[in-house]
Amino acid sequence: MMKGSKFANMLRMTELETPESRLDPFGVLSQLRRESPVRFDENRNCWDVFPYEDVHRILKDPKMFSSARGAAANQNLLFMDPPKHHQLRDLVNKAFTPRAIQELAPRIRDIAEDLLSQAGAEMDVVHDFAAPLPVIVISELLGVPSSDRHHFKQWSDVLVESAEDLSDEAFEQIMQKRMKTVGELTDYFQGILKERASEPKDDLVSALMQAEIEGEKLSEQEIVNFCILLLAAGNETTTNLITNSFRILTEQPQLQVELAQDPGVIPTFIEEVLRYYPPIVSIGRVASEDVQIGGSLIRKGDQVITWVGAANRDESKFTDPDAFHKLRKPNPHMSFGFGIHFCLGAPLARLEGHIAIETLLQFCHDIKLVPGREIVPIQSSFVFGLKNYPVTFESL
Ligand code: HEM
Repeated sequence: MMKGSKFANMLRMTELETPESRLDPFGVLSQLRRESPVRFDENRNCWDVFPYEDVHRILKDPKMFSSARGAAANQNLLFMDPPKHHQLRDLVNKAFTPRAIQELAPRIRDIAEDLLSQAGAEMDVVHDFAAPLPVIVISELLGVPSSDRHHFKQWSDVLVESAEDLSDEAFEQIMQKRMKTVGELTDYFQGILKERASEPKDDLVSALMQAEIEGEKLSEQEIVNFCILLLAAGNETTTNLITNSFRILTEQPQLQVELAQDPGVIPTFIEEVLRYYPPIVSIGRVASEDVQIGGSLIRKGDQVITWVGAANRDESKFTDPDAFHKLRKPNPHMSFGFGIHFCLGAPLARLEGHIAIETLLQFCHDIKLVPGREIVPIQSSFVFGLKNYPVTFESL
């Protein structure tokens, strides 16, 4: 029972443990939303909240629902409450404005073209395209050598991985692996910071070292934690956005033709991929006070898991929620969260997703999943994506 007390969101729900629901959890999540919209799970020792309105209410109220967690490794933006969150977010926002991000477009296009031109008539989407693209982009943004990107991929995989099974041993093991990785990443970024201290460059690490909040600079630890957060929050999620886009393009192949004929539709297509196959399916909070949600009394200190993957398919908010509509508008999905913690990297993720699909359809057509191969889902309670996705295609 204790295993769930601090880190409930790392434990997987038993309802999602079947092979079918690992590949597609949205049917189960919708059923839970209808049958037990707000419930306490004894096994994981946390609340689960499924309806759109309740998830929305929780995410927009950081006073009642805190993001703060105790562990030292978690001292970053994602796990901070106001006022500290506000100060740090203001500072890093400058590097992530839509305009600053738009400037990266030509370089992202080059990287996407390069990766696709190296692929033969068959590729594994994850390994050959969707994983390397965001890793190269983020390492260039941070200003670290892209030759280190293989480490980056391994490190970010460990940071979002869940335990092999539901045992206490597996949970302990994953926590130890994660601590070790955070240690390695800390050493790595401390090394980069030392280099930039004597020789600043035109990159994000140098900018963070010079930035000030109310006359105070960020500490070395704060900068290191932020860099680690960017890796953990930005890589796997964007990889999954791209992979999940391929998945829908092969599940509904007429979309390939429609998007190739009218690339102007790609932005709303990407938003619909985000809603339909969200890379993050759940977001955790802790109640700061006793509070009523959906008729249940949540006690101060209780863990609350909000299920974005269920909210995005809520028929009270979306018409025809289980159908994929490439032109859906409005599309108020919560796949980037909501409120003060709304994803800092959303403009970058959207741009990468857009360019990835646009470039793909310029180079390739008739993209098909290779039949008969096992598709392995990522084992995680909060990430939704695939470990592999083999496709064949015709070059244009
Ligand atoms: C926050 C999803 C890409 C950096 C979040 C949150 C979600 C999310 C749901 C809110 C978590 C919460 O409320 O507790 C995604 C998805 C992505 C993506 C689905 C890709 C499709 C990125 C990228 C970066 C990034 C590319 C940076 C390079 C961050 C950061 C936060 C965050 C720094 C914390 C913001 C804060 O606490 O104020 N993301 N993310 N994300 N994301 Fe993303």
